[in-house]
Amino acid sequence: MEEKKRILSGIKPSGELTLGSYMGALKNWAAMADEYDCFYFLADLHAITVRQNPAELRRRTLSQLAQYIACGIDPEKNTIFIQSHIPAHTELGWVLDCYTMFGELSRMTQFKDKSAKNADNINAGLFTYPSLMAADILLYQADLVPVGDDQKQHVELTRDVAQRFNNVYGETFKLPEPFIPKVGARIMSLQHPENKMSKSESDSGGCILLMDSPEDIRRCFKRAITDSEMCVRCCKDKPGVSNLMQIYAVCTGKTMEEIEKEFAGRGYGEFKTAVGDVVVETLAPIREEATRLLADKAYLESVYRAGAEKASAVAERTLRKVYKKVGFVAR
Ligand code: TYM
Repeated sequence: MEEKKRILSGIKPSGELTLGSYMGALKNWAAMADEYDCFYFLADLHAITVRQNPAELRRRTLSQLAQYIACGIDPEKNTIFIQSHIPAHTELGWVLDCYTMFGELSRMTQFKDKSAKNADNINAGLFTYPSLMAADILLYQADLVPVGDDQKQHVELTRDVAQRFNNVYGETFKLPEPFIPKVGARIMSLQHPENKMSKSESDSGGCILLMDSPEDIRRCFKRAITDSEMCVRCCKDKPGVSNLMQIYAVCTGKTMEEIEKEFAGRGYGEFKTAVGDVVVETLAPIREEATRLLADKAYLESVYRAGAEKASAVAERTLRKVYKKVGFVAR
């Protein structure tokens, strides 16, 4: 039998999971378990590139784990683990630091954005973040990396670094492909639709969290920024309405044309209420299940322990190969 292709992806527990991370990444992960061999992790090592409150980081990591499972990522069918439990990530990360160029890292959009936002803490980890991310991916010899649009540049850099290493030492790493959804790859803020919806954004009402209450979600959609045209149509100069249409499309599976027809001649008020309703329908069961799972700490612990065991076997194999190739003496 042909071996299944491998998938790997992760999310930083640096803030609560958002509708953006759900639509750009998480939603698509759950659907892949039967066809692929899937590894999903909680990127806590990446989270500390921005200063974190330790107790909050610990709480959020477990809460994120419960939300992964509640989104349909079945621990029986997928390997779910916490990044810091697998030392091979930092070990390969260091090796790859030595094969990633200063110029390449300087061009990363996320680094430029984050250093602008955290001007008082532009640390080395923030700069070398992409080589740790390359290590995350390459350790597992992943074929596909399902991410939102903003992470495409990092996956492309991962390919370049892998190719560079392979050119010097012979075939070592599989070259991964980003896997970006056609709809929902870039969900925008509901209040500032020219900006990406982001967990670090503190703009009130712009960002929907997976764990928000139905009332809060409905309120945010009612207040969402639109325009003065009063016509539900998707185009560049209507970022607010286009974003709401994308969200509606992901929740209902409808095309943009179908949505335009459905709301033709109806006001924005009705449209925004309808979008809020389908988002509540999508998220309410996830919130309920995550709340239930969060109460069962022993279960969550059993999931991340089993995940770490499976993940470390795969990661260690790649790391040993790399250490040998670069010329380290085996212990
Ligand atoms: P992070 O934690 O910022 O985001 C997690 C995932 O959610 C997607 N995403 C969005 N998609 C659509 N619209 C949005 N508004 C939106 N906001 C977030 C992101 O594209 C991402 O897929 N560097 C990564 C974490 C990471 C990783 C990895 C991912 C570390 N190592 C290895 C894949 C493979 C990050 O910061 O994602």
